[in-house]
Amino acid sequence: MILSSEQEAALIAAARAAGENAYAPYSDYQVGSALLFDDGAVITGSNVENASYGLALCAETVAVSRAFGEGRRGGLVAVAVTGPLDKGDGAPITPCGRCRQVLNEIAQLGGTDPLVLCVGKDEVRRVTLSELLPHAFGPSHLV
Ligand code: THU
Repeated sequence: MILSSEQEAALIAAARAAGENAYAPYSDYQVGSALLFDDGAVITGSNVENASYGLALCAETVAVSRAFGEGRRGGLVAVAVTGPLDKGDGAPITPCGRCRQVLNEIAQLGGTDPLVLCVGKDEVRRVTLSELLPHAFGPSHLV
């Protein structure tokens, strides 16, 4: 799905706002994520770290679990992911491998291939989830 520049800007702003609530005291790397659904709803998440470092939850995974918790089982049309502006080389942040798989679950349930807006300092990279996770394993394999 193609979003208007206003829709993209609003989704990115929602991800950025969510990132401000990130609990990332160990990495100091605050991530925000915003999911846009086909009814216009936006569900956000931010990363939640843990003193047991390996238990960190990524922003995208938090957002997807919130969406499932609200009863959503598809309809995902776009995702925005933002990272801190003062870290790294400013390249667009892309969802980690686990998050790609987690996003795929809700996408495949609804038969969509969401646009993923990977936000960098001066650039937004627009890719589809299937480009990030080709030949995905998903719920359709289990029926
Ligand atoms: N992180 C995310 O929230 N999403 C990603 O897709 C990549 C990484 C978080 C996990 C951890 O809290 C911090 O970024 C540094 O890896």
